[in-house]
Amino acid sequence: MKREKFGSRLGFILVSAGCAIGLGNVWKFPYICGAYGGAAFILIYLAFLVVMGIPVLVCEFAVGRASKKSVAVSFDVLEPEGSFWHYLKYIGIFGCYLLMMFYTMVGGWMMYYCFRSFRGDFAGAAPDQIAGAFGTMLGDTSTMVFWTVLICIIGFGVCLFGLQSGVERITKVMMAALLLIMVILALHSVFLEGAGEGIRFYLVPDFGKMRDSGIGNVVFAALSQAFFTLSIGIGAMLIFGSYLDRTRSLTGEAMNITILDTFVALTAGFIIIPACFAYGIEPGAGPSLVFITLPNIFAQMAGGTLWSALFFLFLTFAALSTIIAVFENIIAFDMDLFGWSRKKSVAVSAVLVILLSMPAVLGYNVLSMLQPLGEGSTIMDLEDFIVSNNLLPLGSLGYVLFCTRKNGWGWEAFLKEANAGFGIRFPQGLRAYVAYGIPVIITVIYLKGYYDMFSARGTQVLVGWMAVAVLFLAFVFYCALRKRK
Ligand code: PHE
Repeated sequence: MKREKFGSRLGFILVSAGCAIGLGNVWKFPYICGAYGGAAFILIYLAFLVVMGIPVLVCEFAVGRASKKSVAVSFDVLEPEGSFWHYLKYIGIFGCYLLMMFYTMVGGWMMYYCFRSFRGDFAGAAPDQIAGAFGTMLGDTSTMVFWTVLICIIGFGVCLFGLQSGVERITKVMMAALLLIMVILALHSVFLEGAGEGIRFYLVPDFGKMRDSGIGNVVFAALSQAFFTLSIGIGAMLIFGSYLDRTRSLTGEAMNITILDTFVALTAGFIIIPACFAYGIEPGAGPSLVFITLPNIFAQMAGGTLWSALFFLFLTFAALSTIIAVFENIIAFDMDLFGWSRKKSVAVSAVLVILLSMPAVLGYNVLSMLQPLGEGSTIMDLEDFIVSNNLLPLGSLGYVLFCTRKNGWGWEAFLKEANAGFGIRFPQGLRAYVAYGIPVIITVIYLKGYYDMFSARGTQVLVGWMAVAVLFLAFVFYCALRKRK
């Protein structure tokens, strides 16, 4: 079977940007930013995007474009015979599935809120009604299942039509609509009376506030967020390299995608944070920020029904473009591994993903007694923790090692692929930094992140989790450093 290809360069950029732009930008970024002190956090986050995000993204695209396969097979194609790199595929395969196991649910929440906004449910509602509505939704198993299944069916439905006439065509339209709605919402928000203080919080760094949250925590959160927002580490972006021809060099494309992604994250903050301040509400609410804080604001706002409908439509498009992109990965795994047709892969994957999404859904109601990460945590928190704080940084570590080590794919082969085509070249002088600098930074921040996260929970818990972290790291280094026989 001949491998499918993108119809145009814009298609590639928007589909990759669609994969990158998602709940991470419009939901996580504003609340993490609100919780960790606004601009100070943003500065660290931006620095990580440039020094870690872009190089890893280029590595992923290069591996994809050279192998013309998804992560399920790409290492097997490129590795020297007798090496162990192909075990890294499991980070990619597990990562994509595990991410979708909770992402579909949250995407479903967005769609449900979009539907309710259009129906006018929040207009004039009292604050405790709105807070109550979120809790009611979480507790209502059938509503949660319905919207999760619906978004899965829509996502797989789009993929069924193929890369060009499904994924590329629909994502292009959705991304264009998303950008337009976003700009309208942001303009509306910054001109609200009293928004100025929010803009200041957002743009003027307050390092004192950062120190309060613990600098280690903030740095770890910023690094994890940088990986999450660019979708790097689990091969989700790699696949779009595999559908790409060699007319453009990869560094420029990675930069374009990072710029688009950052633009959306920062603008989402401009939509949310000034509005919070204008209505005298702290933006530090955490995950419930967009589901409780914002509907409250819309309820008080002139034209609130329209603004809230547009806002949740924006969130839905962001989530759906990512879901479609990762579903495309999941489908390609089967096509690459077993040679299945797209139709068969879609059917099997859809059933599997829907079933696998159920633990996260039930974790808020039927299974809410399971609190795997301590008091009050949910199954989704555990899944999110494994993907965001483990598989993404570890997978990224795998890519940089693979692209720089002689017993892997190697620096020359990587550079040749990254630089094939017209556009910015990957700086040759960065070799030592990519080969040693990035791995050291990832390793240190990864271990420190675990330490900070679990040190308050007693020595036993800490030692247990640190052992887990070291084991995961050891796996990657084992695959990378094992010599050929
Ligand atoms: N980048 C996506 C977002 O911001 C999440 C994602 C992470 C998608 C990893 C794929 C892989 O929502």
